[in-house]
Amino acid sequence: MRIAELTQAELTAATAVLAAACAYDRAAEVAAEKLFGPGPTTPIPRALGAWDGERLVGVAAVAGRWLRVLAVMPDARVRGAGSALLAEAERHARAVGAPRLRALDEPGNYLAPGIDTRNGEAIAWLARRGWQRGDEVRANCLLAVRGNPRVTAARAATAAARVRALGYEVRRAEVDEVALVEAARAEFGGAWPFELARALAARPVGVHVALREDAYCAFAAHDGNNRGLGWFGPTGTWPAHRGQGLGEALLLACLVDVAVEHERCEVAWIGPRPFYDKVAGVVEDREFAVMTRNW
Ligand SMILES: CC(C)(COP(=O)(O)OP(=O)(O)OC[C@H]1O[C@@H](n2cnc3c(N)ncnc32)[C@H](O)[C@@H]1OP(=O)(O)O)[C@@H](O)C(=O)NCCC(=O)NCCS
Repeated sequence: MRIAELTQAELTAATAVLAAACAYDRAAEVAAEKLFGPGPTTPIPRALGAWDGERLVGVAAVAGRWLRVLAVMPDARVRGAGSALLAEAERHARAVGAPRLRALDEPGNYLAPGIDTRNGEAIAWLARRGWQRGDEVRANCLLAVRGNPRVTAARAATAAARVRALGYEVRRAEVDEVALVEAARAEFGGAWPFELARALAARPVGVHVALREDAYCAFAAHDGNNRGLGWFGPTGTWPAHRGQGLGEALLLACLVDVAVEHERCEVAWIGPRPFYDKVAGVVEDREFAVMTRNW
């Protein structure tokens, strides 16, 4: 088993590894973003491959203090590839001064907000290697966006008309609406400006906004992380404008967008589940364990 740098020239083989290995996450569809893309506070990650002879059988990516992904072909498991990739990822993280390593949940460029709790095998495998499971349980929820009478262009238009009647302008963001990114940075900070900038770069632009007197009051985005999967988020309403239907109007606008390409929309790392259930109806819930390697 040989562990070495994985390059973009091997993206096709790496994508095949992710497709075969990741039963719970659609990792193959976002292979380039996870293996080679930047994060908000991390540069290009270190991508690793495990080769059995000429065959790529495993991949991993480590960015700062996040293990973005680690996967081994099912038919190549239990032969040390996973352990060797993990050991190299940990060694690299220590070498660059990371205080710890956490699995999957790099804000702004995450495959998932943790390890899917159905993947007990991986959780136990990491625990045997000194990783600790945190108490926090993170959740995603999925909304049906096709064939759902609550997610229609007509309903989105009604919700938009309601907030327009309150004096708000609601519209799709412009391609180069940098002012929105800066306004979100000033109000919310964190990884959201990075994800917003990514969603602005999607075509069509994956961001809807609400303004009043030229000041941003709310935004909602999709495809800012995991581009191409139709994931919803981030979304934020400025405190003074909450409780007036802006979040609902912008969520519906995004869900109508997502329905063009997808049956369902995954809402990641959710806060208020009842909000999503009320607007569109939750059809599936996912839970994630936060796994950390401290040293
Ligand atoms: C988790 C995962 C990466 C492990 O990959 P792997 O290549 O099977 O890992 P290893 O071979 O190093 O370890 C598996 C077991 O085989 C054992 N093993 C390693 N080499 C062996 C050998 N030559 N003979 C017998 N057993 C061996 C290891 O000791 C380990 O035992 P343990 O589970 O009791 O600790 C793999 O299951 C996977 O890709 N899962 C799906 C993706 C995923 O969940 N990723 C984790 C999220 S970050």
